[in-house]
Amino acid sequence: MALLNPLEAAQKTKWYPFYHVAPPYGWLNDPNGFCWYNGEYHIFYQYHPYSTDWGPMHWGHSTSKDFCHWEHQPIAITPGALSEGHEWYDWDGCFSGCGVEFEGKLWLMYTSQRFNGPGGVNSSAPNPSDYNPSGSSGGGNVTERQCYVYSEDGIHFTKYDKNPVIDIPNDHLVIANIDFRDPKIWDHNGKYYCVIGNRIRDRSRTQIVLFESENFFDWTYKSVVAISKPDYSEGTMWECPGFAHFGDKYVMIISPQHVPPQGYLFHNIHQAGYMVGSLDYDQGVFTHGDFYTFDYGFDFYATTMMKHPDTGRYFIIAWLAAWQSRFCEQPDGWANLLTIPRELKMREDGKVLTSPPDELKALRKEHFGYENVKVDKPTKLDGVKGSVGELIVNIDTKQAFSIELRVGEGEKVEKTVFSYEPNERLVTLNRDQAGAGDGGVRQFVMDPCENMEWRFYLDRSSIELFINDGEYAMTTRVYPRTESDDIVFAPAEGGTVEFKSVDYYSFV
Ligand code: FRU
Repeated sequence: MALLNPLEAAQKTKWYPFYHVAPPYGWLNDPNGFCWYNGEYHIFYQYHPYSTDWGPMHWGHSTSKDFCHWEHQPIAITPGALSEGHEWYDWDGCFSGCGVEFEGKLWLMYTSQRFNGPGGVNSSAPNPSDYNPSGSSGGGNVTERQCYVYSEDGIHFTKYDKNPVIDIPNDHLVIANIDFRDPKIWDHNGKYYCVIGNRIRDRSRTQIVLFESENFFDWTYKSVVAISKPDYSEGTMWECPGFAHFGDKYVMIISPQHVPPQGYLFHNIHQAGYMVGSLDYDQGVFTHGDFYTFDYGFDFYATTMMKHPDTGRYFIIAWLAAWQSRFCEQPDGWANLLTIPRELKMREDGKVLTSPPDELKALRKEHFGYENVKVDKPTKLDGVKGSVGELIVNIDTKQAFSIELRVGEGEKVEKTVFSYEPNERLVTLNRDQAGAGDGGVRQFVMDPCENMEWRFYLDRSSIELFINDGEYAMTTRVYPRTESDDIVFAPAEGGTVEFKSVDYYSFV
């Protein structure tokens, strides 16, 4: 009998993804340090290896040459309380940050955590209830600073001996060092810039602060590059900032906490999206339009971004979860996964797209294709079924329709339903019958158009929908039975609908 390595057992459980990044075991949240180094993509993530719950944050690590196959790597950063060096500044955790190649080495900048009060600098017993993973209560008990680790091989990391490299004094007039996290570095005209999420001292607003450096190591505060309205309508804390640019148009990505719902929008606890504008480097000010979400589903948060050094293409990736969801895989020894990488693009009309990258086509195995599929009742198509694959449907949106995924009869019917209703112009995702886990409905308004493409990525316990090359996206966790893998195409009740084409590619 072959003995199962208990540390790998989690990877053999039914909801563990086939082509998404997930922890080998333990808990994962935000993606971190997304970059290209030494001929590979590197993705790090907020990681707690000692349980399937959030806890003192490490950085887990995976690498890939092609976005399709990811390899687990050793833990990259360990908090001081648990590391050999017992570093004072990150004793209590290593929060989100970025990865940059500098003079041949891979540098990761992360936010170090240190308790101030009881359980703080002078105490050996941190109080777990002081941890503030969602940053929502903001007890003010933790000092956040920015630190580096570096690596020559992209796998083994050493803490930089001059850490912390950004340390804001308690009496700083603009920046409170409490909610002060998630650094993202980029270079421009021979200088380095770094944005960091922050809340002002009285907590009435959140801001993104900008630092600059000539030499990558000495950072000076430059400005408040963007700030929220004082009425919390734009959220309480902007986490995980970053800037991409397309010509002179800048896109600021942020993950705002607690944006109040507006109509169909913003029903998850926190949001992840972007603002478009222009960045004045002299003043250090971003002039921008409204906030838009990257995703209209349930599970998409803490987006991070990278720019490929050779092609200039931008990619984003996010945590495929929401704080406060039910994570049904926890008893299986793991929790959470990342989304597929998406290519961040700007269309000619200025619309920001997040598209499935072409690289993912390499996952395709068996193909089943149909044209002009006319249905007047719920219909299955031979070969079009599965839980690990890609479904592409072309349709004209003048007709109402639904596409049901992960369908199973069994003792309890299971299905996750995506539908479009052209009169109300509503796209709807309904996961009330999706299986175990949270139910609920998410919707958004989309104008009818003639040639519309709906592309789904399925991976055991997740579904990601992209409409029109990433003009709209909807992401959700689902926890169906393994055998619930049918796909059903249906018209509105009593009607008919014609799908111009249906293509299914299995990945296994
Ligand atoms: C976002 C976040 C980040 C922080 C990390 C902690 O989900 O709250 O702001 O760096 O998670 O794990």
